[in-house]
Amino acid sequence: MDEIQIPLSSPDITEAEVQAVVDVMRTRHLSLGPKGPEFEEAFRQFLGVDHAVAVSSGTAGLHCCLMALGIGPGDELVTTPFSFIASSNVIKMVGAKPVFVDIESTSLNMDVAKAQKAITEKTKAVLGVEAFGNPQGMHETAMLAARHEIPFIEDSCEALGSSHKGRKAGTFGRCGVFGFYPNKQITTGEGGMIVTNDRKLAELCRSYRNQGRDPGGSWLSHERLGYNYRMSDINAAIGIVQMQRLPEIVEARQRVAHDYVQQLLDEPHIILPTIDEETVMSWFVFVVRLTGELDAGDRDAILTYMRNHHIGCSNYFPPIHLQPFYAREYGYKRGDFPVTEYVADRTIALPFHNRLTHMEIEVVVHRLREAIGRRLAAK
Ligand SMILES: Cc1ncc(COP(=O)(O)O)c(C=O)c1O
Repeated sequence: MDEIQIPLSSPDITEAEVQAVVDVMRTRHLSLGPKGPEFEEAFRQFLGVDHAVAVSSGTAGLHCCLMALGIGPGDELVTTPFSFIASSNVIKMVGAKPVFVDIESTSLNMDVAKAQKAITEKTKAVLGVEAFGNPQGMHETAMLAARHEIPFIEDSCEALGSSHKGRKAGTFGRCGVFGFYPNKQITTGEGGMIVTNDRKLAELCRSYRNQGRDPGGSWLSHERLGYNYRMSDINAAIGIVQMQRLPEIVEARQRVAHDYVQQLLDEPHIILPTIDEETVMSWFVFVVRLTGELDAGDRDAILTYMRNHHIGCSNYFPPIHLQPFYAREYGYKRGDFPVTEYVADRTIALPFHNRLTHMEIEVVVHRLREAIGRRLAAK
């Protein structure tokens, strides 16, 4: 068993993606060619939105959206501390302040009742995140933002292919943003996509991603401060094939998640991901939580034990408010967001990718049970 190496994640690249890259390499259009718009069109159609804008990363996409919405210094955004750091960093990048709101303990998304209380006249938008791909609560978050007449920016970087009450992740907000780092449902190596029905917002994002040029304008005329956040045709070509394969990819990931659930159902010290009946999950990662008698120290020891047995695993995600930068910047401390902290202390992201076999899952589960047993015995 010890010979087996099981990575935390692994991209699913077939010969079709390889060939698509080779085909682009044989043209003169390595960037700003036809593949970018083709990828955008496939994405636009999949989500049923009016506009899709390809960018160089999920972070770049969120940054463009905030700039396009005119968010800047002095503004506040209500958001979650239980996320990958980029969802808060983009708020800082435009000079605004993230106002964290604790999470709800089943979906692990922002608690909408608490978000309601956090909104003041300084709040210029709500930035919601679909934690681990779960869009539960996004209807309510969108309604909350609408009641306050502020935009809802939907960070769907982890949620491509998920839906809630028949509505696809990425389509709840004024704009949605996806990310294509290699651990995501689909990858382009690096990349991201902004989706929206707001034409003006899409045009501004197109300008921000392209050095502030107006779409269709002159190459050497720059209307606003912009960035190079473009996606190359090489990356887009991978994305086109991955989008064609998305149904198969989502299904494979559902199979792996289902297998984990079956094998862990009877483990009393594990809380499995809670998905409500109205959610269709496109799994990003498979994160289990330890029950209350085990703490962060136990969790870290379990991670070490698993890694020592060549099993990739991680503590997704440490709370953002306790990251050194945010703690220093705003004086946050332990106890500020207790649900987030309680959950984050006990999470274990298990190996998760499309081709994980039943036998590999058995090995992971075996080692996990063993590691938990050792910690309990030591108490
Ligand atoms: C919730 C969330 N937001 C933003 C990002 C940033 O995406 P990227 O790494 O493509 O910049 C990620 C992923 O890495 C993420 O998980």
